[in-house]
Amino acid sequence: MLSWDEPQTLIRKPQGLPSFKPAQAPLIDSMPLESSSASAMSDRRVKVEDKRIINGASDVNQLVPFKYKWAWEKYLATCANHWMPQEINMSRDIALWKSPQGLTEDERRLIKRNLGFFVTADSLAANNIVLGTYRHITAPECRQFLLRQAFEEAIHTHAYQYIVESLGLDEGEIFNAYHEVKSIRDKDEFLIPFIDTLTDPNFKTGTLQADQDLLKSMIVFSCLMEGLFFYVGFVQILALGRQNKMTGAAEQYQYILRDESMHCNFGIDLVNTIKLENPQLWTASFREEIKALFLRAVDLEYAYAEDTMPRGVLGLNASMFKGYLRFIANRRAQQIGLDALFPQEENPFPWMSEMIDLKKERNFFETRVIEYQTGGALSWD
Ligand SMILES: [Fe+2]
Ligand SMILES: [Fe+2]
Repeated sequence: MLSWDEPQTLIRKPQGLPSFKPAQAPLIDSMPLESSSASAMSDRRVKVEDKRIINGASDVNQLVPFKYKWAWEKYLATCANHWMPQEINMSRDIALWKSPQGLTEDERRLIKRNLGFFVTADSLAANNIVLGTYRHITAPECRQFLLRQAFEEAIHTHAYQYIVESLGLDEGEIFNAYHEVKSIRDKDEFLIPFIDTLTDPNFKTGTLQADQDLLKSMIVFSCLMEGLFFYVGFVQILALGRQNKMTGAAEQYQYILRDESMHCNFGIDLVNTIKLENPQLWTASFREEIKALFLRAVDLEYAYAEDTMPRGVLGLNASMFKGYLRFIANRRAQQIGLDALFPQEENPFPWMSEMIDLKKERNFFETRVIEYQTGGALSWD
């Protein structure tokens, strides 16, 4: 442990710090300013115009000068929204779960299948970011967001585990659902090839094919995983909360939904910026391939909705989700510049928009954000 009372002679220089740039030129303050070497050095400084989301050649260790201010602003917004699962009181949920009359069998099945997807989904998301996407993104302000996002995925996995533990559910059953429950396994099997593309150590961007593969994986991840596959589950638990059931779990899901909306929107901004910087990737055949993936994802999520609620429950039924999934798929398609896939779909759950647009929530999150901003500040007293 460091003690500030130690004599200065004991403080050693840090050893073994990586040298990220070979020292090919002398330090700038040892050279006359007018020297030609100094101008060569300043040529090596990061220029905004040299930055690219992918295949950039500028130094990824230099956060500034900013080019993608939207990414930095989203990073700041996610930090201001910090929360931790164990701050949420689960005692009412525990009492309800343990009471024989507290929930119907259909409600219990729904909760277990719901958690069965989520307990592993956010680990897939975290691995995709840390081992995949991050390596291929060359804009440091976007990498900064991805680092924060990866931590939030860990918090989400923690939240789901905390719910499972609080309710005393069979961990083996819930955490293995992605192997053992077909509707969950099918969703994950759809995603895994796209995650594998990015996490393959031999995968490198820089060709048309590779850059299209990267873009496709990023669209699948942001629009279809975070932007579609999470939404049946979110609606279900938030619908329970609206009926004053499982209110602790519903509060956890509300925080997660807020984080995931930010992840999804960041991912879409990333996709759209890559498209702008690399218009050659957005070919007609590529767009057709993306549309087919959207249709497949809607089918898979609908099958999951049917499996989690084979009969109507909570005033919800699977066919309402067909409309909802089509509505969301349209929105995601339009966000990346594709036409709506299912014209004229209306949102059967308008209250979900209220949940997502948290500015409309009366002080629901403000208190917590303020607490974090003061609680997290260092005091030198
Ligand atoms: Fe997550
Ligand atoms: Fe996420």
